[in-house]
Amino acid sequence: MLTVAIEAAREAGRFLKLSVGKVRSIEVKQGEERNLVSEIDRGAEARIIAIIKRHFPTHAILAEESGGSTAPADVRWIIDPLDGTTNFLHGVPIFCVSIGIERKGELVAGVVYDPNLDEMFTAEKGGGAYLNGKRLKVSSSASLADSLLVTGFPYDITANPNNAVEHFVHFLMAARGLRRLGSAAMDLSYVAAGRFDGFWEVSLNPWDMAAGALFVQEAGGRMSDMRGQPLNIYQKTVLASNGLIHDAMLAVVNKA
Ligand code: IPD
Ligand code: CA
Ligand code: CA
Repeated sequence: MLTVAIEAAREAGRFLKLSVGKVRSIEVKQGEERNLVSEIDRGAEARIIAIIKRHFPTHAILAEESGGSTAPADVRWIIDPLDGTTNFLHGVPIFCVSIGIERKGELVAGVVYDPNLDEMFTAEKGGGAYLNGKRLKVSSSASLADSLLVTGFPYDITANPNNAVEHFVHFLMAARGLRRLGSAAMDLSYVAAGRFDGFWEVSLNPWDMAAGALFVQEAGGRMSDMRGQPLNIYQKTVLASNGLIHDAMLAVVNKA
């Protein structure tokens, strides 16, 4: 399954990279004025699903643009064909393909592919996380003052700010630095790679985090919701870290 996920991510990534600057139609997703989608998101998703179906016709799929299949199946592929759509549409080369695989509700494998840097992040449960075949390990920063953190803001921030701005201000004061890449899947991959020490976001979907969550765990980090409970990728909030700064991050989030 991992081999097929890599093939699908590479194919979709190649398509995304070739499509930069060639978007014909941009639509706003219903009820969310900032949440955009184009024929390129859908084209990448169709390519991924075609490859998966060719190899595993009975598996279930949950994909951002086409939704979920209802077929009962032990294995479910969770797909974000283009994470970082706003960057992509503005020509900012920070976007990726994310594919996570669940078996009986447990994350067992995942792939994130950044076609701009040709970086392929992969993991299998219990087998470690890798970047282009090299084993990943989270960072060793032990305090927020030594940490570079990353976050994202929800598209519906005006209607549902959910303290995102307060969290941002508190972390800005506590950390060495704070970034906002615009791709949650890359944020999580970078925590696994030790490039960032921690990440949080208040309103994500399962396809944003399925693969990246597994990378962080397999690279020795910690994943939770914002109350410190074990992460459930279907419940929106997420806090990821190298483990060492996790409690300090939870304290900041719960102060806001
Ligand atoms: C978005 C990105 C962004 C995050 C948003 C996501 P999309 O996904 O991951 O970083 O802040 O919450 O929805 O729409 O580009 O696939
Ligand atoms: Ca996404
Ligand atoms: Ca997307």
